[in-house]
Amino acid sequence: MCGIVGYLGLNEKKEILLDGLQELEYRGYDSAGIAVIEGEKLNNFKALGKLENLREKTKAYHTEGFGVSIGHTRWATHGKPTELNAHPHVGAYSYVVHNGIIENYQALKEELQADGVKFLSQTDTETIVHLFEKNNKTANTVFSAFEETIERLDGAYATLLITEADADTIYFAKNGSPMLIGFNGDDVYFASSDTPIIGKATEVYYLEDGDYGYARQGEVKLFDAKGEKTFTKQALTADKVSAQKDGFRFFMEKEIYEQSHVMGETMMGRVLDENIAFDELDADFFKDIKAIKICACGTSYHSALTSSYLFERLSKIRCDIEIASEFRYKEPLLTDDTLFITISQSGETADTLEALKMAKRAGLKSLSICNVDNSSIIRESDAAILTRAGIEKGVASTKAFATQTMVLWMLALYVGQEKKSISKEVLKTEIEAMRKTPKSLLVEEKLHSQLTRMSKRYLHGHGFFFIGRDIFFPLALEGALKRKEISYFHAEGYPAGEMKHGPIALADSTLFTIALMPKTMHYEKMKSNVEELSARDATILAISPEPFELADDFIQTNYDSHPMLEFFEMMVVTQLLALEISVRLGNDVDMPRNLAKSVTVE
Ligand code: M6R
Repeated sequence: MCGIVGYLGLNEKKEILLDGLQELEYRGYDSAGIAVIEGEKLNNFKALGKLENLREKTKAYHTEGFGVSIGHTRWATHGKPTELNAHPHVGAYSYVVHNGIIENYQALKEELQADGVKFLSQTDTETIVHLFEKNNKTANTVFSAFEETIERLDGAYATLLITEADADTIYFAKNGSPMLIGFNGDDVYFASSDTPIIGKATEVYYLEDGDYGYARQGEVKLFDAKGEKTFTKQALTADKVSAQKDGFRFFMEKEIYEQSHVMGETMMGRVLDENIAFDELDADFFKDIKAIKICACGTSYHSALTSSYLFERLSKIRCDIEIASEFRYKEPLLTDDTLFITISQSGETADTLEALKMAKRAGLKSLSICNVDNSSIIRESDAAILTRAGIEKGVASTKAFATQTMVLWMLALYVGQEKKSISKEVLKTEIEAMRKTPKSLLVEEKLHSQLTRMSKRYLHGHGFFFIGRDIFFPLALEGALKRKEISYFHAEGYPAGEMKHGPIALADSTLFTIALMPKTMHYEKMKSNVEELSARDATILAISPEPFELADDFIQTNYDSHPMLEFFEMMVVTQLLALEISVRLGNDVDMPRNLAKSVTVE
C-alpha cells in the first residue's frame, strides 16, 4: 500500500524516481509526487491520479549533477485523494514521504498547531516534516532532530526525509512497513520493495523494524535503539522479470491465462511419483505439531479456507482458519503444538504480518506460503514455501490464489505422509489428480467468448450470490470477491445449504445466483439448493458438467475425476466472468478504484 522510491547520486533523478514508482504504482494510484534537491535548488511536483499524470507534469523538468530525491505513489488512508494530500509533504525547507500510519498524529498535530504551524494537508504524514523542523530549531545536529522526530512516532512507518538544512543527505526510518536500501558504488537507492531498484542497485540491505539513519554519497549510517548498527549487504538479482502484458488487454487477463503454466512451476520438484517433497522443510518440521492455524486476508484467506477442508480430510489434522485482522485482537488461545501458517501473495500485508509476530511471541512454529521472496512475512517466518506464481500485477488476485491453493493441497498430502495419516492409495489418487491440474486451468477460446457474450446480461441486478458447498464454498467467496473488486457490484459468497436460513428472502428475478455445481461433490444436495432459489424466481447461472434444466444461463465444465480439478476449472470461469463484466462496464480492470495491491496498513 503506497510505494516509496528514493535516490542519491549523480544520475538523472527524475527518471529513476518515475521508473521506480511505475513498478510500485499497482500498490496505490490515488496520486504521486517527487521532490529533488540539487545543490541549492529544490523542486517538487505532485499530480492526482495515475503516474502518467505526474510524468506529463514533469515532462520539461530534468535534473543535473549530484542530488537527493524522494518519490511516492499514494493509496489514501488519512485524507482524500487530492493533490494537497499527495506526498512528498512539505515543511518550510524539508520534504517527507511515508508509508504506513502514524497512530498518534492527531496529538502531534495539535501540539504543532499550538506552536503556530499551519498544515496544508489532512494527512498523518505531514506531522513528520513539521515535527522535524520544530526539533531542528533546538537540536545540535540535523540528524539528532530527525532522531528526536522518529522517537515520537507511534504506529507503522517507512519514511524518507530530505531537507535544505542538510542538502546532500537522505534521512530514513522503518518500523512495521517495508523499506530497503540499494547500493551501487557511491549511489544509494531506497524503495519499499526491490522491483524499482533491480537493474540499478547491485547490493541491498532490507531494513529491520526500528532501523533508522542517513545516507550521503558513498556513506550509509544505520542505527537502532541500541545505537549505531553494523549491517551486511546482500547481492541483489539483476534479472528483472518485468511483468509485461504480452498482447493481453489487461494484466489480470494475462495472469488468468498464465495459471496453467505457473501451476507446473508450483508443482515442480514437489509433486513426485509417489510422494510430495518440500526441500524447504526440515525432516522433523511437523514432528511435534498436532494442529494447524492459518491466518490470511482477502483472497489468501479464501485459499486458507479451502485448505481447511483438505487438511482435516486428507491429513487428519485439526485446522483452524482466521482472518488476520480479527485474529490480532481476539486474544486467541495459542498452544505451541500448533503450526502457525500465514498466506500472502505480497508478503507485506500488515494484518497478516502482525498476526505472525503475535504467534511467534506466543512460541508457535511458523510457516509462510508466499509469492514474494525476501518479503517481510517470509523473513519473519521459521520456514517458507514460495508459490512461484511470478509477479502478479492485477490488483484482483488470480494466479496467486490458484498457486496458494495448490501449495496448500500439496501440504495437506505432505502432512498426511509425514504423520502417516494418509493411505498410499489415497496419496496416489491425489497425486494423479494434481498432475492434471495444469490442464484444468487452460482457458479455452470457446469458453472465453461464451463468457464475453454472457457478461452483457450481468450488468445490473440488486445482488449476486455465488453459492457452493464444501471446498466450493470458499471458491464462491472468491468468485464474489472478484465480482465486487472489479465491477463494483454487491456480491456475496454463501454456503449453498445456508441460503434458506435467510438470504433466500432476497430472491427475485434480479437476484443473480452463480451456482457452482460440481459433479464429483454433493451434486444432488447442491441441485436441491439451486432449485429452491429457482422456485422463487432467482436468475440462475449454473456452472457444472451436468446440464441443468432450471438454469437461465449455463456454463458447461468438463466431467473431471476429482473435486479439485472441478474447483480449478470453475475458478477460471468465475475469474473470466468478473473480468468481462468489468470490461463491459468500462472499469479499470487492473487498478480498480479504492484498492491497492499490497495492504501495508492495518
Ligand atoms: O498480499 P496478500 O495475499 O496478503 O493480500 C491479501 C489481500 O489484500 C488480497 O488478497 C486482496 O483481497 C486482493 N485484492 C484480492 O483480489
